[in-house]
Amino acid sequence: MESTTIKSPIIRSKNFNAYFGNNHVVKNVSIEIPKNHVIAVMGPSGCGKTTYLRCINRMHELIPGATSKGEMLLNTEDIYSMHPIFVRQKIGMVFQRPNPFPNLSIYDNVIAGYKLNGIRLPKADKDRIVEHSLTRVALWNEVKDSLTKKGSFLSGGQQQRLCIARAVAMEPEVLLFDEPTSALDPISTSTVEELFHELKSNYTLIIVTHNMQQAARVSDRTAFFYMGELVEYDETKTMFTNPKDNRTQNYITGRFS
Ligand SMILES: Nc1ncnc2c1ncn2[C@@H]1O[C@H](COP(=O)(O)OP(=O)(O)OP(=O)(O)O)[C@@H](O)[C@H]1O
Ligand SMILES: [Mg+2]
Repeated sequence: MESTTIKSPIIRSKNFNAYFGNNHVVKNVSIEIPKNHVIAVMGPSGCGKTTYLRCINRMHELIPGATSKGEMLLNTEDIYSMHPIFVRQKIGMVFQRPNPFPNLSIYDNVIAGYKLNGIRLPKADKDRIVEHSLTRVALWNEVKDSLTKKGSFLSGGQQQRLCIARAVAMEPEVLLFDEPTSALDPISTSTVEELFHELKSNYTLIIVTHNMQQAARVSDRTAFFYMGELVEYDETKTMFTNPKDNRTQNYITGRFS
């Protein structure tokens, strides 16, 4: 698929490929992602969504035998020429199952990224980051009186928002989400979905989801992957009402999943 031209994309990949050993799982993906938008990534199981997402912040290369090739830019800079730790600060990731550090307090969970990277901050800075990050994810009012409690005491939806706060604390530009609500109940799912709308004024969100209703509700643009290829990438409205490729059409009409 030809990439559409987007003015000053925040993420741009061109002919990007990913492999597990000889298994070529992401094939020549070219995509331009506009800033302050929500992008949904959809496609059948095994089509390379997670792998592609993990290539954006260089987590793919952490798996033994996993390689990639092609261009991946953050703004105008080559992600693969940057320090991987810096890349993962600028491009945060939130996983399917909320994974707060069970032995850390809510407060320490939010600033865990700094600790893990050996960055020491004065208490006043930490306090400010914790309040700011928890406010950003609409959790501050719920937890401000229990910051010393363990993160694992929170509900699933609160834990997922805590994990988003942990990513937000690093002052990222882009947030990657891999099926962020598939382990949550419907109410927690809607609190996280509402949050996406708020977060996009400050960040660019790329969300892998199997849930087409969710993609339709939260995203501005949708990318449809099939067997490692990016088959179609368009405004979500257009994609759901007037898909151009048969494979997209078959997927959204539920002919395969
Ligand atoms: N750690 C791994 N080692 C080897 N092969 C892998 C690994 N992870 C994924 N693969 C293979 O890469 C391909 C793409 O997998 P990926 O997890 O990116 O798909 P996905 O679209 O995220 O699927 P799902 O919707 O099931 O999460 C699949 O063929 C998968 O078997
Ligand atoms: Mg996946």
